[in-house]
Amino acid sequence: MNVRITTLAERPELADLVWDMPDSWPEFMDHDPISWSMFGLVTADPEYTVVATDESGTLVGHGHSVPFSRALPGRGGDLPDTGWDQVLMWANSDLRKKVAPDTISAVEISVHTGHQGKGLSGLLVTALRDNARAKGFGEMFAPVRPSAKHLEPRTPMSEYAYRTRKDGLPADPWLRVHVRAGGEIVKIAPASMVIPGSLAQWREWTGLPFDTDGPVELPFALSTVHCDTVQDSAVYVEPNVWVRHAL
Ligand SMILES: CC(C)(COP(=O)(O)OP(=O)(O)OC[C@H]1O[C@@H](n2cnc3c(N)ncnc32)[C@H](O)[C@@H]1OP(=O)(O)O)[C@@H](O)C(=O)NCCC(=O)NCCS
Repeated sequence: MNVRITTLAERPELADLVWDMPDSWPEFMDHDPISWSMFGLVTADPEYTVVATDESGTLVGHGHSVPFSRALPGRGGDLPDTGWDQVLMWANSDLRKKVAPDTISAVEISVHTGHQGKGLSGLLVTALRDNARAKGFGEMFAPVRPSAKHLEPRTPMSEYAYRTRKDGLPADPWLRVHVRAGGEIVKIAPASMVIPGSLAQWREWTGLPFDTDGPVELPFALSTVHCDTVQDSAVYVEPNVWVRHAL
């Protein structure tokens, strides 16, 4: 497949299609309140989004990154344990207060469901890296959601993320793409995304009964969901992996 990748700023006519492209995010992940309230705001600058089209002009993938400050007092200077959600909150606050960024993080890469498995994801990672470098950053971070972790939701991420194949590359396919593109695993973000809901909501999102207290395994979840039948609520805390790309 011949793919053309540019920033969204170079092809603004694709902006509406980005939200409508068929992707494979599990339904329950659409209910992270931080994403709901902030993702659209912090990714509104088309200079930080990359889009991929095939020969026919169909949008086959996109990637988003956001600039923010880590050095601001109170932020600790390090990558946050609260990964993805924290990046969205800091980026949102910095936008409002016009704080100069010192850091850039990729926050999402999605490939069209009909075009997965063709090596597109690595091209999008490289495009986000190139774009970050062009914007003057010396490194790009990413709170990565390992794509095969859902097959063993009870394994600690701290163990899973560091598994390697014989060739030394990560065993997980999506971490492997990042490392092959020049990334290195820095640390775990144990509470990267938090999704709370009533048991009725979780039943609606997943079709599962949510009728027993304790950890519940969910298709495509990277860890278990904590179900509390006494309080009638459940919470999913997703661990991610911080990857650093030197540029
Ligand atoms: C994760 C995602 C971006 C990967 O995109 P993709 O273009 O389909 O992946 P690629 O074809 O580039 O393959 C990447 C690696 O995964 C492997 N892979 C692809 N599909 C796979 C599958 N179904 N099962 C196992 N491995 C798979 C490939 O073999 C490749 O590894 P290798 O090059 O070392 O062999 C895509 O599946 C997606 O959009 N998922 C939903 C959104 C998401 O989770 N995004 C990432 C978090 S931000």
